[in-house]
Formats: sequence, structure tokens, C-alpha cells
Amino acid sequence: MSTPPRGKLTLPKLAEMKDRGEKIVMVTAYDAPGARFAEDAGVDVVLVGDTAAMVVLGYDGTTVPVTMDEMLFLTRTVVRSARRPIVVGDMPFGSYQVSDEAAVENAIRFFKEAGADAVKLEGAGPSLSRVRAIVQAGIPVMGHVGLTPQSATMLGGFKTQGKTAEAAVQLIEHALALEEAGCFAVVLEAVPAPVAAEITQRLRVPTIGIGAGPECDGQVLVYHDLLGLTEGHLPRFVKRYASLSREIRDALENYAEEVRSGAFPEEQHSYEMPAEELELFESSIRSPSTSRKSAQATKTSSTAANAQSPAPRSEPPLRKTSSP
Ligand code: KIV
Repeated sequence: MSTPPRGKLTLPKLAEMKDRGEKIVMVTAYDAPGARFAEDAGVDVVLVGDTAAMVVLGYDGTTVPVTMDEMLFLTRTVVRSARRPIVVGDMPFGSYQVSDEAAVENAIRFFKEAGADAVKLEGAGPSLSRVRAIVQAGIPVMGHVGLTPQSATMLGGFKTQGKTAEAAVQLIEHALALEEAGCFAVVLEAVPAPVAAEITQRLRVPTIGIGAGPECDGQVLVYHDLLGLTEGHLPRFVKRYASLSREIRDALENYAEEVRSGAFPEEQHSYEMPAEELELFESSIRSPSTSRKSAQATKTSSTAANAQSPAPRSEPPLRKTSSP
């Protein structure tokens, strides 16, 4: 068995955090800068979520279309920049539903090809045997119950789960079954706070809440939601800690305006050359021999260009770079 690199947060340490009552911080990330920011902020777990479908790949309101290859690509970029956090690769729809064997094969790809520390999959029921099989193959699994976006259509949309007494009891059973199957943690999404609190008390492994109240052992939010990069309607459980989309739009508009007006680039953004080299350069391009050579070159290239395009090309005017 390989030993985790120095400073890496391990699964036993994550379990100890629950025992000590220390909150676990989890966030999603989909690229190297996001992973680096999460690392620098001291985040404990980085989830390369299949929410990538919506927040990165541009699919509207569904996580279903993202593929294994896309998830592996994103996970690799995160793994390269997140050293201390546990990196969890989210198994996309279709990668574990068909059989235990397919689930193990795809989990192995996350582990071996992308370097993830663990995988996450949604649901209980048929997912339980998938969890057992993947754990038996030596890959840690994070469970996910409550609102499971991959089956949002079956659940009647993106709705809070466990709102009736019967549904709440079933949620507890599902979470316990996932722990029993070998999950090292369970995500509780869009679950009433008292139900999530009860599950958290009953489980030995940590619960990570998203829209599941303050009693969970940890919390997770989607990177783009918490940073204000997502536009339009957001679920009630999201808290925005920044308004980056406004800042990005302002910055891009400013840039476009300055390029069009000529205000950018300024002197400090341009390169110079030593004055004597510039002088030499200018006199060499004006000397008859260079002019002849360049005229010859122009003639040859314009003959070639004329073969494709009838319009004659004029030489661009030479401009002197401004000195500071
Ligand atoms: O894919 C994802 O980002 C998730 C979180 C919302 C938990 O599953």
C-alpha cells in the first residue's frame, strides 16, 4: 500500500475531525487555479463534482451529460494542484449504474489515471452493492443521499428530500446502509436540518451537508456558486462569499473598450530595444541591399499569394516603438 505524501490529509484524520467535533470544509473545484485556491484556504476535501456539467461545460440544469473522460480530465487538473486536501472524483451518470464490474472499472480509472484519493457516487439501493465492490477493490467511496441530481427527474425535480416523516426515516436508513457498505463519508443534500442532525448523530463516519443545516460534520458548496460566478437562480442553501461574475464582466468590458480606443497597451506593456540596435535596424532595412532583398522577397511571396488571391497585398508600415 502506498503511503500518502507528507502533509496530506488522510481518511483516518478526517474521521478524527468528526470525533473532535471539528468541522470539515469541502468545496468543489474543476481546474488547477480552483484547486490551488482551495489548498491555500486550508480546505480539507476537494470534490471534482459532476456539477462540472453545469458550471464548467455549459449544460443547462443537468449533471447527466458529463462523461467519464471529461471528469477524468478535470480531476487530473485538480490533483496536480491540491496537495493537502483529499481529492474526490465524482462518478458521472452512466459510469456505475450498469453493474458492479463497470462501477469498479470506472472507479479504478479515477484512482489510477486521474490520481483521485476517493470517488463519490449517488444514492443507496442499487448503489450499495457498487459501494461494496469499489471499497473491496481498495478505493475509498463517499456516499450521497437526499437530493441526488443525477436522478432529479425521478425525484420530481431539484427538490428538498425527506420532508415527510416516512421519507425522513428512509433517508436515515439509506445513510446507515451506505456507512455499512463501507463509505468513509456521506453527503446529505437538500435535507431538512433536523433529519440531517439525526443522521449525523447516528453515523460513525462524517456527514457533509449541502442544504442540510448546521449540524452536519462538514459543509460543501459548489465553487462557482459561493464565488458568485454562477448567474441566475440559485438554491436557497447557497451563500455567496463574492461577486466574481460582476468583477469579470466589468474587467472584460474595460479591456475591450481600451483595446478599441487604443488606451491599451501602454508604454509599460511594450518591449523596447537598445537605441543603437534600433538605429542599426532602421538603417539596415533602408540600405539598398536589404531593400533589394526584401523587394525580392515581397515579389516572391506576392507571386505565391497572387496564385491564391487576386488582391495585391501592401507591406504593413513600420512603426518606431516609443521610448520611455
Ligand atoms: O457534483 C457536485 O458538485 C456535488 C455536490 C453538490 C455535493 O455532488
